[in-house]
Amino acid sequence: MYLSIYIGRMATLRLASAASFTLLSTAAPPSSFPALFVKFTFTPISAKRMAHSIARATLGLTQPSKIDPPKISFAAKDVDLVEWKGDIVAVGVTEKDLVRDDNSKFKNSLLQKLDSKLGGLLSEVSAEEEFTGKMGQSTVVRLPGLGSKRVGLIGLGSGASAATTYRSLGEALAAAAKAAHATSVAVTLASPEGIPAELKLTTASAIASGAVLGTFDDIRFKSESKQPTLKSVDIIGLGTGSEIEKKLKYAGDVCSGIILGRQLVNAPANVLTPGVLAGEAERIASEYSDVLSAKILNVEQCIELKMGSYLGVAAASANPPHFIHLCYKPPSGEVKTRLALVGKGLTFDSGGYNIKTGPGCSIELMKVDMGGAAAVLGAAKALGQIKPAGVEVHFIVAACENMISGTGMRPGDIITASNGKTIEVNNTDAEGRLTLADALVYACNQGVDKIVDLATLTGACVVALGPSIAGVFTPSDDLAKEVIGASEAGGEKLWRMPLEESYWESMKSGVADMVNTGGRQGGSITAALFLKQFVDEKVQWMHIDMAGPVYSDKKKAATGFGISTLVEWVLKNSSPK
Ligand code: BES
Ligand code: MN
Ligand code: ZN
Repeated sequence: MYLSIYIGRMATLRLASAASFTLLSTAAPPSSFPALFVKFTFTPISAKRMAHSIARATLGLTQPSKIDPPKISFAAKDVDLVEWKGDIVAVGVTEKDLVRDDNSKFKNSLLQKLDSKLGGLLSEVSAEEEFTGKMGQSTVVRLPGLGSKRVGLIGLGSGASAATTYRSLGEALAAAAKAAHATSVAVTLASPEGIPAELKLTTASAIASGAVLGTFDDIRFKSESKQPTLKSVDIIGLGTGSEIEKKLKYAGDVCSGIILGRQLVNAPANVLTPGVLAGEAERIASEYSDVLSAKILNVEQCIELKMGSYLGVAAASANPPHFIHLCYKPPSGEVKTRLALVGKGLTFDSGGYNIKTGPGCSIELMKVDMGGAAAVLGAAKALGQIKPAGVEVHFIVAACENMISGTGMRPGDIITASNGKTIEVNNTDAEGRLTLADALVYACNQGVDKIVDLATLTGACVVALGPSIAGVFTPSDDLAKEVIGASEAGGEKLWRMPLEESYWESMKSGVADMVNTGGRQGGSITAALFLKQFVDEKVQWMHIDMAGPVYSDKKKAATGFGISTLVEWVLKNSSPK
């Protein structure tokens, strides 16, 4: 019954948004002929539309900037760093590598060799700058005496062999190259022997990924664009040959997905509307059409599927919703596992009638509210290139905006999701879960074994875990182990949170099956419990709240969070080739 209210309103969505312009036109619209009415409208509308389309045509993803990542090569251990010719030669050093002897000379043989060639200046500079090798510390100086112009030391902390450490090393390298306008850099580790043979490949590829991702600068929206200078990175002493080249190709495929994800999140909401996001998804599918196919559902098709919860969120918007479904099928062989990746795709979240107000509400940042969708589509792009065997993957995004208008949802409205459950919307700003509800029902209907959803869902999760760690919620210990393992390999930070069933109490409604928010306490847990109402019990499911790590305040840019973990996880579920 309640659904029909929204069906009725959605069906008149376009008419309603056109009608809002009548205030600016002189002719009264013939109400039963919206198409005719458009003819009567003149300048104010076209001016409004034109401004918008100019923005899209000149700045949008339809004209992506040329991305030219640096070329990565591997060199054997016996390449002499002292002789290497280029702009910067950098060494990754742990705190232990910096231990000195009684004469204040380095004990580490590589540092000793560089230092003696530099007449002891490296030792002096690092002491003066109090360089202790801590994670995040780096020093790059111009010194005569080597084949290269500059020499750098980059801190690795205690040297734990984690993907994050070496990705940061690559990023620091890219930052140093940017600062010095360098085109070529070489990098090695002071103690490569400290890394077990089986981890050398992952270490090298993590450095490569860091260098590529650190070099990427999103300049699409700047009028004066400075292209990155870094063109080549030589990774020395971590191995050479076909196996490492294979790993490098994989890292490159993942990086291209991460860069796409960052571009999607960085794009503002006037450029990246739900329709443009759907177009980008179709473009990914057509680029890798041997393994990917795309299906985009319009409003009418979503009405057909009774997605009253998702359509309720979209009801205020002039830019119509688009439901995105990409499907990956391996090029050959049998499918053993079926997976779904579901991403929250709010191209903008104003809060709706519960509008985001006040300091710290970050309304101006709410273009990032499609970070889950960007992760899912970035993973699709990477997997389209990697082409794993034995696994089918569905990529699902219920894309829309959360806006304000006379056609929008009111606080207190009751809506019906596609599984028949009714929801009293006690807060229109808890919209992500409403869109995910129908997306999760749709995912379960694809007959998948496991679902991972990713969403910039709650500020509460950012309060709990800070800006760089995502919260994970799942009833399945097996899935927790799988995905957290994948995140470690992918160099991303996840932390498992409890799905405390007793907190469901606060989500009870007097008039509907549930409300959509349950107060401030445990806000990310009640959000996860809400999502659980829309997942089949037979399906293994995990929710990842990535509201913190989607965006870097420091870099003022999207991070591409989630993509490397998702790709690793899909590969864990694939069959060996
Ligand atoms: N999109 C926001 C969550 C968010 C916060 C994303 C910060 C990125 C950075 C979400 O839709 C939201 O508004 N959540 C509310 C839920 C509340 C009304 C229960 C929140 O966290 O305040
Ligand atoms: Mn919101
Ligand atoms: Zn939101």
